[in-house]
Amino acid sequence: MAKNTDGYTDGYTDGYTDGNPKLAHLAIILDGNGRWAKNRNLDRPSGHFKGIENIEGLIKQCVKMQIPYLTLFVFSTENANRPPHEIKALYEVFEYFIDQQGSILIEHQVSFKVIGNIAAFPTSLKEKIAILEGQQIRDVCKLHLTIAAHYSGRWDMLQAIQSLLAETKVAPSLISSVDFAQIEAHLATRGLPDPDLLIRTGGEKRISNFMLWQLAYTELYFTDTLWPDFSQEELIQAIEWYYSRERKFGVIV
Ligand code: IPE
Ligand code: MG
Repeated sequence: MAKNTDGYTDGYTDGYTDGNPKLAHLAIILDGNGRWAKNRNLDRPSGHFKGIENIEGLIKQCVKMQIPYLTLFVFSTENANRPPHEIKALYEVFEYFIDQQGSILIEHQVSFKVIGNIAAFPTSLKEKIAILEGQQIRDVCKLHLTIAAHYSGRWDMLQAIQSLLAETKVAPSLISSVDFAQIEAHLATRGLPDPDLLIRTGGEKRISNFMLWQLAYTELYFTDTLWPDFSQEELIQAIEWYYSRERKFGVIV
């Protein structure tokens, strides 16, 4: 992988590196906060707070490496079935992140968007999300940060199809004309390229209802490292691994 003098990649430009498309969209399933806390005899919220701290460094690294899209799966539809005190802690951690980082993100030209069914989130959190999403980025946006919260891949496909049918008024001839591009235009991720690389921390080797449609040809990197311990060095290692893969997209190259 091409590197500049400080050891980081040259970043995103049009074209290819080592035969692979430049890493434009990095998706991460952040897992292992609870185990990180348990290993230190701490409560689970401490693990979630530590995990949030780790996101700050990750964002800076993505800006530095000129990766234009970063999507973080922080809270799945299924996570909502955790006990109420855990859900409350997760909401608090999310609010803390927006309070601490919101203005810094905008200052550093990082846009912020939440995808997912957040109707059940506390009003105060929903308001903070809406305010941050509405902030204008000066000049060019350096990083599109998307947070998948109360998100699931199946939910996304269902809501996309419902939204598309509502738009077409379900005329039978239109239903048969529905194509992939139309569904993509209605997914919560519309406007984002499909992820090039998915990183999952915490040892599990599964997708866990993340972007089922969008991950079709994504390179998958699984690591036993618990999210709060996932370092910027390991991020670079994962990116180097990505560039060593031969991406064929189902064709013969
Ligand atoms: C990831 O950490 C954060 C969320 C899913 C909200 P976990 O809370 O799943 O951590 P473990 O898997 O219990 O270690
Ligand atoms: Mg977990």
